[in-house]
Parts: sequence; C-alpha cells; structure tokens
Amino acid sequence: QEVNWDITAAQKEGYPHYMIKEIHEQPQALVRTIEPRINPDNLPDFSADGIPDSFFENCSDITVVACGTALYAGMAGKNMIQNVLGIPVSVAIASEFRYERPVINENSMVIVTSQSGETIDTLEALRLARQYTHKTLAIVNVKGSSIARESDQVLYTHAGPEIAVASTKAYSVQVASFYLLAAKIGLVQGKMTKKEAQNFLATLKEMPGRIETVLSHEKRIQDLTDRFTNVPNAFYIGRGLDYRVAMEAALKLKEISYIHAEAYAAGELKHGTISLIDDGVPVIALATQHKVYSKVISNIRETKARGAYVILISEDKKITDPTICDVHFSIPKVDDIFSVFESIVICQLIGYYTSVNKGINPDQPRNLAKSVTVE
Ligand code: G6P
Repeated sequence: QEVNWDITAAQKEGYPHYMIKEIHEQPQALVRTIEPRINPDNLPDFSADGIPDSFFENCSDITVVACGTALYAGMAGKNMIQNVLGIPVSVAIASEFRYERPVINENSMVIVTSQSGETIDTLEALRLARQYTHKTLAIVNVKGSSIARESDQVLYTHAGPEIAVASTKAYSVQVASFYLLAAKIGLVQGKMTKKEAQNFLATLKEMPGRIETVLSHEKRIQDLTDRFTNVPNAFYIGRGLDYRVAMEAALKLKEISYIHAEAYAAGELKHGTISLIDDGVPVIALATQHKVYSKVISNIRETKARGAYVILISEDKKITDPTICDVHFSIPKVDDIFSVFESIVICQLIGYYTSVNKGINPDQPRNLAKSVTVE
C-alpha cells in the first residue's frame, strides 16, 4: 500500500510554513537555552559549558560582531549590558569590522554571534579579533560549526534547527544569551549583587511563559496585517531598547514582505525622516520603556498629526488619549529591560502574516539565503 506523506510537511508539524512553526517554538527554545545555565539558587552557571569565571574577570569592554538578525540581537544586548552593568559595548557589522583597524586589546571581550556558525564575514572577523584578544566568545546555534570551533569559548543556543530564512527563534535565544552573560559578568566583576543577579534571572525565566501569552493573541495580529498588503513603506519607531527591537522588526518585514521598512530612533524622526510620513503610512511604535514613555508618545503624536496609521505596542494600561493610535497591542507590565522578548514576537507575526497576505512564501524569500558563505 502506498503511504502518501510528505516529509517536509511532516517536519512542519501541521504548520503551513517553517517560519510560523519556529515563531511558536520560541518558548521551548528559550527554556532549553536558559534553564541549564541557571542553578537552583537562581544564579548563573556556565560550568556545563566549560566557561570558567576567570574568563569574565578583567573584561573592560565588549565588542559584538555579527551579521543580520544576529547583529540586531547584539544591539539589544548592548543596550541592556550598558544599562545594567555600565560596561561599554560596541556592536560591529562583521563585514565592516574585518576590514577596519580593530579598537580592542587583550582585556576586550569579543562576542561573535551567529545562528549557523558559518557566516564567512563573521568567521573572518573572529579570526581577526583573535589576533588581539583571547577573550572571544561565540553565541552559536549549530554544534561544531566553524565559529564555535575557532572561538575561545562557546555558549550554545539551543533553538534547534532553524529552517526558515528569516530568523526568529534564533534571535530570541541569542538575546537571552546576552542576559545570561550579563548576570555572570555582573557577579564576577561585582557590578551586580547576588540578590540582583537572582532577581534578574528569575525575571528572565518568566519570558517563555510571557511569550506564550503573546502567541495566544496571534489572530488579532494576523487581522491587522490586512492593512499592510499594499503599502510601499513602513516605519518602526522607539527609544532605547525599543529602538533596537525596531531594527530587527523592520528587517523581518523587509526580508519576507518586500515592504521597505525603516527603524528609527523616535526622537530623531524630527530631524528629517518625518517628511516621509504621509496619509496611511504605517508607523509601528514601540513604547515599553517607562523612562521615555511620554517622549515616545509625543513622537507618535507628531506622526499621527501627519496621517500615519499607528500601531502602538506598549504596556497594558489605559491609554489616556485613544486618538493616539489606531491599534494597540499591550503586553503585561514588565521591567523595561525585559520587554524585548514579547515585543519582537508581535513584530515577527506582523512580518509573517504580511508576507502570507501578499502571497509570498515566507520560508523562501527572493535573493536571500539562510547561511551566507560569500563575502
Ligand atoms: C543571512 C540570513 C539571516 C541571518 C544572517 C546571519 O543573511 O538570511 O537570517 O541573520 O545570515 O546568519 P548567522 O548564521 O551568522 O546568524
């Protein structure tokens, strides 16, 4: 008897595309990445990774080197580490870093971030960095990949295989890895008390459950994307960590829906880009950072006054002026530094459903490859 089943569909486990399957796998991927590195006292523990505490001593500054989504995970990591620990972090595009004079020394930590561990520019940047420091650490998803083999230390993300070209679950676990590292560096260098590290990691452990809640509102996000089918441009705006999330959010929309999307620091709009805001231009505004909430709201008002169609992502609280936005996605109250995990999932879903609405196969966008081994 002929068994009529398709191996690819079977691997999609009932989902129409790998991308949406992988979006849904994020809570589990995070649990696999986070839990083994947090001991029963809620303190960071990299002993199973074989990374000694001494690796984190005397680290004066950090440079993150990566490409694509991994680069934007680094941007979020930079914002968080600088704000939590006060250690200078720079984020370098691998294809730039490798041809410039590196401004690093033996006390600089270089964190090379890559899902595949094979991106040639990132690998070459690592080789260059190793001429200056032996504090290179790879955040990599693929076991035994070139970047993992050539780095001094490796912190593997446990996202499982990521098939869709547009990265989703790899981003979340890369970001989570920066949080694990922050707790470790903070403790080793005395920049965090034991209690602070415990609270920080306890909050990190809540993220998988919180993402489940975001995923339960998927249908609402899907409905919203009808608006996007015919737009040529979209803007993602925010301040601080939200601005870094906006970068990855804009990349997601560009990659798979072919809509030109730009991430902008909300406060910088008035210095030029606001001239592009016109009737119906979608502005996805991230306003999860308490410190700058009212400032972002003023920036949103400026876009609304020019006709923007505003989708607001902010904390679950009553918006005093409902005319500020057209659609509001709220996330439950969360510490500023942890909002990235939920807001990016909303934005991944916006990208995915826009692509599907436009009849594009989000798993195989034109001109893009999953792993880039050309320079
Ligand atoms: C390609 C992929 C992106 C990915 C980037 C870096 O451009 O399409 O999704 O973020 O490479 O890949 P890596 O494997 O180094 O994370």
